[in-house]
Amino acid sequence: MASLAGSRKPDGAAAPGDGVCRPTRHNARMPDHPATELPPSFLWGAATAAYQIEGAATLHGKGRSIWDEFTRRPGAVANGDTGDVACDHVRRMRDDVELMAGLGLNAYRFSVAWSRVLPRGIGQVNVRGLDVYDRLVDLLLERDIRPFLTLYHWDLPQALQERGGWGSADAPKWFAEYAAAVATRLGDRVRDWTTLNEPQVFAFAGHLAGNHAPGLTDWGLALRVAHHALLAHRVGADALRAIVRAPRVGIALDLHDCHSLRSLPDDEGAAVRMDGSQNRWFLDPLFGRGYPQDLVAAYGSLLPRGAVDAMHRYHGRLDFLGVNYYNPWRVESSSELPLRAALVEPVVPERTAMGWEVRPTGLRHVLERLAREYGATALYVTENGAAYDDEADPSGFVDDEDRRRYLDRHLAEAARAVRSGVPLEGYFAWSLLDNFEWAEGYDKRFGLVRVDFPTQTRTVKASGAWYRDLIAAWRRRIVAADPLGM
Ligand code: FCB
Repeated sequence: MASLAGSRKPDGAAAPGDGVCRPTRHNARMPDHPATELPPSFLWGAATAAYQIEGAATLHGKGRSIWDEFTRRPGAVANGDTGDVACDHVRRMRDDVELMAGLGLNAYRFSVAWSRVLPRGIGQVNVRGLDVYDRLVDLLLERDIRPFLTLYHWDLPQALQERGGWGSADAPKWFAEYAAAVATRLGDRVRDWTTLNEPQVFAFAGHLAGNHAPGLTDWGLALRVAHHALLAHRVGADALRAIVRAPRVGIALDLHDCHSLRSLPDDEGAAVRMDGSQNRWFLDPLFGRGYPQDLVAAYGSLLPRGAVDAMHRYHGRLDFLGVNYYNPWRVESSSELPLRAALVEPVVPERTAMGWEVRPTGLRHVLERLAREYGATALYVTENGAAYDDEADPSGFVDDEDRRRYLDRHLAEAARAVRSGVPLEGYFAWSLLDNFEWAEGYDKRFGLVRVDFPTQTRTVKASGAWYRDLIAAWRRRIVAADPLGM
């Protein structure tokens, strides 16, 4: 049982779930925060992913995933960390849902581990694996927290990797089978489904840069993986729609505002190409426009045969688009093919512990662009947050003013976007808990709630208390505007 420490905290970071909203030193500013004016239907959430928090790596016949494999590779992950235990969330699920309720969340984004449901990726369904999510969904619904389920957050069953993984032409079919298995069990209670998390990252970090599982380094393979991911999104969405009554199906993309380093035509061209490979390569097909021509020309023979034609006939049929936004990108021209563009890290006023530039207006620009250029009709910020070098006091409390400010300013920009007409329907902070940050292991902490890994103690940070108070202020405003809730 997690000890939910925190009620003695100096600025009122109350114990989660204790129902008390103590004043914090930020409360005075709260009524003026533009986010308190977000509409009554707005969703306030936090996000996590299975491999990053669950632990229980072999419980009830769970199969291995590519991350179980990759973390064993010497040097692949900082300190040799693995997700074997992570936040031990599977065992502490009830406490963690109480933690969410204590923060006042009305939505929670989590992912399902494919190899818990289908240990070999396809074939025999593992009922006890599905039980884990059945229970989670029930606990969330009991607390009026809307489940936002992501089917794939990077942990492909290792058995499928051994058959070619996302590079195999069968991958979309495998994904549809998995989607159907989850939908059959949870479709009576889960309405909001995200097929894939950040296909750009798992295609390119996993198959070109090689710093994520499965650790491969091949341009042609990365483009094939990205192509199969788009196809999988669509057949997975079709499978969900065939089983779930009136589902809302989306995908989560990591979008970066791309800027040229200098106002030179070469750098500006490079920024356009970087935007093409990072953003438009996924957005254009999902919105029914096929692959962007300029990038098709740049990639040339690296593209899988028939891919361009296949995307001409493709549409993502999104009920919503999830936006993961962390930072803008600065780009300069380079001689390296095929993109002839490189990311650079000039000196900027602020960076997080990940080295990522802090630029809250970038979030608004991304959201406004989606509404303006793509006609997006429903958006969620499915991830936004920051790692900082937290220092806990002896009681475990973290006074993370840097993270609080990061969230404060990004939420203000999100609220401004809504004011300017952007159809943003919710915001999910990354992350509920400190967790396993992929190649960075446990070194980088993103949580609203601190996790002391040796004891698994959870303690709400100052940023978490601030988020809780902001949500409470938004609620008060809604009640004041419409006391009868009509
Ligand atoms: C995103 C991932 C998420 C987390 C954050 C920091 O790219 O989707 O799992 O690692 O970055």
